Order: sequence, then structure tokens, then C-alpha cells
Amino acid sequence: MKYKNPSLSVQERVNDLLPRMTLEEKIAQCIQIYIPPDHPGEIVDRIQAVGLGSRILGAVSLAGNVSQRTAGIEDLNEIQRIAMNEFRLGIPVIHGLDVIHGLRVIFPIPLGLAATFDPDAIQKTYNIAAEECFRLGIHWSFAPMLDIAHDPRWGRIVEGFGEDPYLGAKMAVAAIKGFQGELDENGYQSQDHILACAKHYIGYGSAEGGRDYNTAEITDHTLRNIYLPPFRAAVQAGVGSVMSAFEDLNGEPASGSRYLLTDLLKEELGFNGFVISDWASVAELIHHRVAANEREAAQIAFDAGVDMEMVTECYAHHLADLVMEGIISMERLDDAVRRILTQKFQLGLFDHPYADVQKSLEIRDLSAYHIAAREVTARSMVLLKNNGILPLPGDVRRIALIGPFVNQRRALLGTWVNDVLADEPQTLEEALRASCPDVEILTAPNGLMDEMIMIAAEADIVLLALGESNARNGEYNSIASLNLPAGQEELAQAVAGMGKPLAVLVFAGRPVTLTRILPHADALLYAWHPGSMGAAAAVDILLGKVNPAGKLPVTFPRGEGQIPVHYNHKSTGRDHPRYLDMPVEPLFPFGFGLSYTRFEITDLVVEPVEIPAGASVNVSVTVTNTGECKGEEVVQCYLQDCVSRRTRPERELKGFQRIALQPGESRRVEFTLGPDEMSYYGAGGSWVLEPGAFKVWIGNDCKASLEGSFLLK
Ligand code: GLC
Repeated sequence: MKYKNPSLSVQERVNDLLPRMTLEEKIAQCIQIYIPPDHPGEIVDRIQAVGLGSRILGAVSLAGNVSQRTAGIEDLNEIQRIAMNEFRLGIPVIHGLDVIHGLRVIFPIPLGLAATFDPDAIQKTYNIAAEECFRLGIHWSFAPMLDIAHDPRWGRIVEGFGEDPYLGAKMAVAAIKGFQGELDENGYQSQDHILACAKHYIGYGSAEGGRDYNTAEITDHTLRNIYLPPFRAAVQAGVGSVMSAFEDLNGEPASGSRYLLTDLLKEELGFNGFVISDWASVAELIHHRVAANEREAAQIAFDAGVDMEMVTECYAHHLADLVMEGIISMERLDDAVRRILTQKFQLGLFDHPYADVQKSLEIRDLSAYHIAAREVTARSMVLLKNNGILPLPGDVRRIALIGPFVNQRRALLGTWVNDVLADEPQTLEEALRASCPDVEILTAPNGLMDEMIMIAAEADIVLLALGESNARNGEYNSIASLNLPAGQEELAQAVAGMGKPLAVLVFAGRPVTLTRILPHADALLYAWHPGSMGAAAAVDILLGKVNPAGKLPVTFPRGEGQIPVHYNHKSTGRDHPRYLDMPVEPLFPFGFGLSYTRFEITDLVVEPVEIPAGASVNVSVTVTNTGECKGEEVVQCYLQDCVSRRTRPERELKGFQRIALQPGESRRVEFTLGPDEMSYYGAGGSWVLEPGAFKVWIGNDCKASLEGSFLLK
């Protein structure tokens, strides 16, 4: 059979295989199921008879916070052997798992990765995760999550890249390239790469009240200009799969919307991969009450454009009848199967279907991955305050290390971790002692707050490690109050009362309310949930081995009352809306982060200052390190379309560069702004470029004040 010939192109092989398939065999490719490790039961009979599209390796939907055994290589290879040798057509099964920020070596949560403002570092991070997956027989990760989030109460803000469409789009491309690599001249992916999945399409992060799974209402204008850009970039980057979301958006469940999945994603954006539903989101059309039963759910979802059903069996039970009755066309079924087979051929699954046990042993030595993780983790951490007590002085003799995060391991990893595979992280205390063997580290081993206060009085400096559990983040874990967990603010206040220099570290999966912590802290380092090397990376920063340069990918509100609060708000007809009882400004703005050195950004030049439609302008500045130590700055470029036929944000991020400068060093940094940066989705969803004046600002957070302008004629 031609399709067995690896020298043929992907499409030649798909075109040869598809017509050989029966109706049942085609439908089998549109199904993803969970097969319990070691006891596949009747699944084996099904695979022998008609094959199987995909096997999900997580046993429960909330895999991110549940310890579970993931199938081992022998198990994966056995099911694959059955599919390749006992099913007549020998179509391989694609194994999928949520590898969201690392598999064995865990990297910072995606919100922390976004804080690096460093796409190259992110691409390397996801490439390491891809290598780990590939070696363990995992072909597909349900990541990156590209949901724009304006509400830190939403538990899954942890899993995305924050509030900004431009940053989200850059991170999307980096993650997808890291996972998928580049196709070779014959259209095949190289080894050590896996299939990525842009999720959750779309609007999932705007759940009402920040309550996960909740209803979302987003105008098409806002959907296209704020929520769509990361997915548009993912499609342009060649992402091979997209996951449809749980929520109902504008009156339609996202997993049942033909407008979203076919008209917008497949036809307008040209997505040629396949759409997989979220966990049971096809059957959940019944809970949404848009389908009366599984048969209707299958019809609505498949017709909308969901090509593969995750774990429920609406397609398995009803798709054949729907096709035979002509309700679902064979053309639509062939389109879904073609999309799925294309990815399987592209991944090389037909030619290399089995995980190499020997290769899997190679990743027992995680040292190279640990080095990479330590570096990118330090790049993710954000210095929010420092009156000079950091980095710790070289002559410090006694450090009090106190707080609930001094001896945490699992919580450092954050949510969405396949526990049984992740290697155990160092604690903050272990990391500090390892890096400061000659310093006396005082701790309160009984975890009693009165002990903590007593040792604070004896120390030269106090390190207070606060934060929230990983179990308070992630799927289905939304919170109503953004305060740190009970007692932590009181502890900070009591410790501060001892009058010693106080550096606070916060380990969290979202912006927490720092309003009552900040006044007591002489310094505050936001470490996110930093992963396997988080403790070591935090100590590297505390000791000045790494000069922090992370920037906030999401606005930090003063309190829940300000939500939703994000930098790219629109101009309003009157003076900015206000509160009578709280400043309208957030506690920390998007793009903010300090360094141990200082940078000046001067001499903004825009050229040319007048351009015809379709042309670009160059905007440049001089960045100078005016401090005493080397450091990195994230130079950010914001744009305003001064007059437009649809209301637009007052400013939007349209460029950023993270640069390293020695003390005293200056460098010109240049941004090119072209039609893509100046255009937006206007009336009727059309992508428009309107003539007129534009303003541009360049700085080191979204409050950038160094201004220029140009005219698009
Ligand atoms: C979950 C999540 C999704 C994940 C899928 C498989 O419910 O919503 O992000 O990829 O199910 O675990």
C-alpha cells in the first residue's frame, strides 16, 4: 500500500490511505479515549477491528493537580503494536498528554514564562519539554494555552501568557516552534518534536466572575482584536491542533459553534490542522442544553468543526448513523479524517510508531535540562520593590528564612504537573544553605509564627517566603479573594515590626493582592510557581548572581474591586471612570519590573514621520545602563491609532526587546511598525488599516512616556 512508503509526500500518503478506509475506520480516527494502563480491556478489540485516533494519557480532566500514574513506554508501545500490526490498515495511535510547562523537569508556570518577555527562551523551554515527551513516547501536548485573561480570580490565568494579545501571540509562536520544530523539505517533523495544541479556542478566559467554565460574552470586535491574535499567530506558525473550549460564548458553546470553529478558524484563518474537543465538551453540549442527547451533541459538534472527540463517545455511538442518514456528509467526515491523518504522517508516526526504550533512559540525566530551567526561571521572576537591601550584602552573617514557602517542594512546581514524572525540587531553605554555606540561616522548623518573629529579631536580614498553594490554581480553582492565604499578611506585618530589613518572596500562580504586604517589605520578588529549579533561581537573584529583569505579563490589581483591570483599556467619552473608594490605577501595571541596576531610555526617533498605506516606520531609542552592574531591560513599544472608526485601546504593545547592557553601556534599539501593527479588525470583522495620525511610546512598562508620532497618509 503506497501510504506505507515514507519517501512519498504527506499528502500523497493521505490521498492513498483515505479511500481505503471504511466508514467505521474513519470514525475511529475521530475518537480519543483514555485506556487504563496495564488493563486496556475491550479497547484492544476495538483497535484490532477499526483502529483508534488517539489515546489520552491523563486519567482525569483535572490532571494538573492529581497524582496519577501515566502509562509507561511498554504499555504505549503495546497498544501501538496492536494498531500497527493487528488493525488491517496499520494506522498508529497518537498519544496526548497535558505537558503544560515541562514533563520531568518543570519550568515556571506559563504566566511566569511570559514574564521573561523572551520568546527565544520560551522556544528552548518547550523544545526541552518536547524532547522529554518524545523520549517517553508522548506524541502530543495539549499546550500552549493561549487564553487572554483579565481576571486573576480565574484559576487558569496560571496557564496562559497573561493579558496582552501581542505578548500572547509572540509566546504562542515560540511555544509552538519549540514543540513542533520546523517541517523538513518533504513536510515531515524532525525527531524529538511533538504536536502542539493551541487552546482553549476561544474566549475561555473571560468567564463571568472569573469562575472557571462560566459563561462568556465577548463582542466580535473584542473577540477578534483581543482574544484572537494569539490563535491567529498560532495558525500562522503551523500549529497542528486546536482545542475547542468548554464555555458558552455569545450564546453558543465554543465546542458547538460553526462560526468559531469553521467559518473563523478553518476558513478565515486557514487553519489546516485538526480540532479536538476539550475533555467531554462534546457530550457537555447536553449540559449546555443545546443538545437533547448524545446523538444531537455529536451532530452539532461535528458539523461545527470538532474533528476529534476527547474521551466521551458521542461520535463512536452516533456518527456512523448520522453519515448513513446523510445528516453529516461523507465529505465532512473525510475532511476531519484527512486533517488527523495529515498530522499523524507529518509527525512520522507511521514510520517511527514506537518509543525507543533506550532513548527514554537517556533522559534520566536531567542535568542539562536543570541548567536551562534554572536560567529561564531566574529570567521569569519579577522584582517589584527594592529599596536597596537586595542583592543580599556579601558580608551578611545571619539570615532569618521564614514563612510557609521555606520548605515547600510540590507547591513550587505549580499546577498542571504530571506528579509521578516530575523530579522532586529543592526547597528554598536547601537552596539558600547550598549557596551560602558560611552564613547562619535561622529558621523556625516548627512553623510557628511566634518562633518566626523571634528569629527575625536575631537576624541581620529577614527573607519572608509567602505564597499560595498550587492547589489554589489551575482548572476549576477560581477564588473570590485575591489576598494571600490567611495569616500571611499578619505575619508580614509582625515580622516587619521587628525593624529588620525585610525581603519578601511571593510564590503564586496569579496576581495576588500585595496592597497590605508592600508597605512592610523593603524588597519584594515575585517568583510565580517557578518549577523544579525555582528555589535555586530565587537564591541566584537574592545573592545577585542573576540581576532580575522579568516584567509583569498581567496587571496587578489593588483588590478584586478593580477587576477587570488591564492596561489596554479604551479611551472613554469622559474623564477616566473612577472609584470613590479606591484609586483607579492598579498596584502594578503591565510590563513593570525592576532591576538591580538602572536604565535610561532617551532620544526617541520616528522615521519617516509620514508614510503611505502599506509602508512601515522605524522607531528607535537609546537605552543606557546608568547603574553599577550589568543587567537586562525589556524595552517596550506601545502604539495608539489616534482616530479610528471603531473605539480602540489608548495604547497597545506592538514590540518588545530584552537587551543586556554592561554598566555605562548604551545601545540604540529599533522597532519596525508596519501595516500588521497598525491594522485592526474593524466594522464587520474586516481587517482594516485606516489613514491618520499614530502616537508611539517607548519605555520599560505600559506607562511609557517617551513619545513620538507619525502620519499614515
Ligand atoms: C481539561 C482541560 C484541558 C486539558 C484536557 C485534557 O479539562 O480543560 O486544558 O488539555 O482536559 O486533560
